[in-house]
Amino acid sequence: MNPSPDTTIKIAIISDLHVMAPELLVNEGTAFEQYLNRDRKMLRESLEILDTLVSDIVELKPDLVLVTGDLTKDGERVSHQLVAGRLQRLVDASIQVLVVPGNHDINNPDARIYDGDTATPTDTITRSEFAKIYRQMGYDGQSRRDPDTLSYCRDVTEGLTILAIDACMDRLNTFVSRGDSRDHCKTSGSLEPSSQQWLVEQAAAAKAAGKRVIAMMHHHLVPHFHMEDTLAAPYMVDSAGQLCQRLVQAGVHVVFTGHLHISDISQTKVRDGEMVEVATAAAVGYPCQWRVATCNTATGKMQLRTISLHSLPSDPDFAERAQNVFKSCIPTMTHGVLTRYWPEISCAIDNYRSKHAFVMRYVDIPKTPEAIADLLLRHLQGPVTRTYIAFAEGNEGGSDNLSLVEELIDGVNHVVNETTRGILRPLAKAALRLRVYGIARLVLRSILEDRNDIGTKHESVINDHTAIISF
Ligand SMILES: [Fe+2]
Repeated sequence: MNPSPDTTIKIAIISDLHVMAPELLVNEGTAFEQYLNRDRKMLRESLEILDTLVSDIVELKPDLVLVTGDLTKDGERVSHQLVAGRLQRLVDASIQVLVVPGNHDINNPDARIYDGDTATPTDTITRSEFAKIYRQMGYDGQSRRDPDTLSYCRDVTEGLTILAIDACMDRLNTFVSRGDSRDHCKTSGSLEPSSQQWLVEQAAAAKAAGKRVIAMMHHHLVPHFHMEDTLAAPYMVDSAGQLCQRLVQAGVHVVFTGHLHISDISQTKVRDGEMVEVATAAAVGYPCQWRVATCNTATGKMQLRTISLHSLPSDPDFAERAQNVFKSCIPTMTHGVLTRYWPEISCAIDNYRSKHAFVMRYVDIPKTPEAIADLLLRHLQGPVTRTYIAFAEGNEGGSDNLSLVEELIDGVNHVVNETTRGILRPLAKAALRLRVYGIARLVLRSILEDRNDIGTKHESVINDHTAIISF
């Protein structure tokens, strides 16, 4: 890309495309339905969504497009080939495209062909194949590459450098077909000290050369709610606080991310300044949003706006349909997740039962994943659904949402009422009041009032959709 004549660069950001090549769905059936129940992505529409985004972006004519990972449903070779071909339309329109992988994209045992009630493994790709397929989109000779990951550093204009960070752990994925005991795809993110050092050095060198540096990665660096690093650890890169501190010190103040399929901007203060993280919602499901950042490299100010995809060529009411799918996904997701992780959950319950035999005499935990799901849904479905929608849409702090904190805590009380008896019921409630509800309130308020660094002197609220950010 030629250096812009002025100091303004327009960047489009898209995330979590999760494109599924149409030939992977030979016939609808229970196998594909079961997969969808885990997480209601609009996979049947995923290619049309990408095509629509690409057309909208070509019309917008940005200088640069960043894609923050999870380009494919589950790293299928055919899906990657399709995505790269579609993104090539942007490159052909003289728009530079830079991608990083997400946790679904490489060496994934869930790469499958669905035919009725069977799901048969199909080709996934290796890390070096990812770099080959997306050579034109970050992995050619113009980028400086980390030797150990798919991270790279690239000067996109005279004044701006992009630090693309790959913290995916797909090397640890397991395959029954390769002799492992189960198929498992790692969600979490981590970086070896040598890669962290490489990234920090690259950022510092670019900064010393007078450039501004923006980072992009799939996993989160700055939490989007209180205790995300504990309660949703796989969504944050390991040791996020330390890495954040080092990147800020090296002169990086903004990172674009994806992964949790939410539209949220979080910020945190560290010793040498602050880091703002702009998480972009998934393209593949409601609220189907993408971002545009107009960056002035002279002033270091970025104007950010958010665009929602309202319709598709095949469906003028796509947004409404996607919202309905999203609203209705809580029961199937609850059942799907509990069933999928039932061996681990029942093992944890049994362990607890053997260690706390006295207490457990007064506790009635349902014995099947279906019964547990029914119990939770009976008391929590309404407020959880509204919380999930507010969280994904962004700008949660509307007055409609404020009563949700109490409704959720009320729902938990009902679950406790139903699962405890005798002396334990008042004891359990007192223990929850003492040890859990204070934390739960902070977590829920950090989501529903959209607060960053909640409970500290740096507590702040940022508009999730329209913001002016220093970079
Ligand atoms: Fe994703």
